[in-house]
Amino acid sequence: MRLPDFERQDMSPERRKLLVANARLVRRLDKFVGELVDERERDHPIHTLWMPSKFLPDMSTEEGRMVHLPELQEQMDGYSDGEIAVQTLNALTEEGLPLFMSALTGELAMQTPNWYRWKVRWTAEEGRHGDLIKAQLGLSGRVDMVAFDRMKTAYTNNDFDTGSDGDAVGFLVYTRFQEHGTQIAHRRTARLARRNGAEQFATGLGNVAGEEGGHKTFYGATLVEAARRKPDTVIVSMNEMIGRGIVMPGARMTEAELAHRGQRESALFTGLKWAAEKAGVYTFNDYMDVVLGMKDELEVETRTDLSTPEGRKAQDELGMYDQAYKEDRGGRIAGIAERRKMPEFPWVRRRESNQRYVIFDTKAPPGRSTTP
Ligand SMILES: [Fe+2]
Ligand SMILES: [Fe+2]
Repeated sequence: MRLPDFERQDMSPERRKLLVANARLVRRLDKFVGELVDERERDHPIHTLWMPSKFLPDMSTEEGRMVHLPELQEQMDGYSDGEIAVQTLNALTEEGLPLFMSALTGELAMQTPNWYRWKVRWTAEEGRHGDLIKAQLGLSGRVDMVAFDRMKTAYTNNDFDTGSDGDAVGFLVYTRFQEHGTQIAHRRTARLARRNGAEQFATGLGNVAGEEGGHKTFYGATLVEAARRKPDTVIVSMNEMIGRGIVMPGARMTEAELAHRGQRESALFTGLKWAAEKAGVYTFNDYMDVVLGMKDELEVETRTDLSTPEGRKAQDELGMYDQAYKEDRGGRIAGIAERRKMPEFPWVRRRESNQRYVIFDTKAPPGRSTTP
C-alpha cells in the first residue's frame, strides 16, 4: 500500500496538488457519509444482523454433532477440488480484514468523525463474512486449516497494492470495485452450495453477498457525490485505476512468509484466479460488468460537466470499455481457462482421502460414523 505522502521527493508538483485536493475532497464528504451511516444504522440495527453460527451445525447439541455435521460434510464432498480452492480464496480474501482496516485508515486519512463511524460499522459487518466461510471450510474436512492459517498470516503480512498510489479518490474507486466484485463471487458460491444441497451455507453466502451489495451502494454513492462536486477529478482517478487494472486484495497471497517484494501478483494467486474463472465464480466478464456498472453509475459517457482537458480525455479513454470489448476479451479468456491445466492446491483434501472431523458423543450409540 502506498500511503499518501505529500512530501515525497519523486512526485511532481502537479501530482502533489492533485493528491492533496483529492484527500480534501474525500474528507469533506464526511457529512454526506454520516447520513449514509445513519441510514444503515437505522434500517439495519446491529443486533438484527444475521449471525454466521446460525448457518453452521450447533456443535453444543447432539443433533448438531451427529446429524448436521455429517450432513455438512457430505454436502461439501460435492465440491470439486478446484471449487474448494476457490472457496478458500474467498475465505482468505475476507480474512484479510485487518489489512483492509489498515488500508482504509491510511489511504482515506479517516480522522473525520463519520468516516471513522463508517469504518467501525463496516468492520463489524465484514468480520462475520470470514467467520462463516472459514468455519464451514474447517468443518467440511476438505481443507488443511493449518495451511489456511499460514496463508492468511503470510497474506495479511504481505500487504497489497490497490494501485491508487496515495490518491484517496482512486482508493474509493478501488473499494467500490471490490465490494461489487465480492458480491458477485459470493453470489456464485451460494449457487455452488445450493447445487450440492448445502442450503444453510447457500443462505449464509447469500447474506454475505447481500451485505457486499450494501457496501457497494455506499461507496458508489460517495463516488457519485464526489463527482457531483468535482467531476473531472473523479473521472480522471477512475480512468487511472481502471487503466492500471484493478487487482484483487489477495493478489500477493502466498504460502511462503513473504511475497516477492514488488511483485504485483503471486503464483499461488494466479492459479486461484484461473480456478475462479474456470469455476465461473469470478470471471473476466464479471470484472467487466463491474467496470460497466461503475461507468453507468457515474454517467461517464453522458457527462457534460467535465471542464478540463484531462477530464475529457479520461472520459474518452473510459469509452473503450464497452460491451464489445467485454465480449471479445471475455470469450478469449474463458477459452484459455478451459484449456489451462489447473495447478495442485496442496491444502485441499481430496474427496477420496477425506478424513472427516466427526466429534463423537461418548454417550451416543456406537456405529454412527458417517465415513462411507
Ligand atoms: Fe466481505
Ligand atoms: Fe464488503
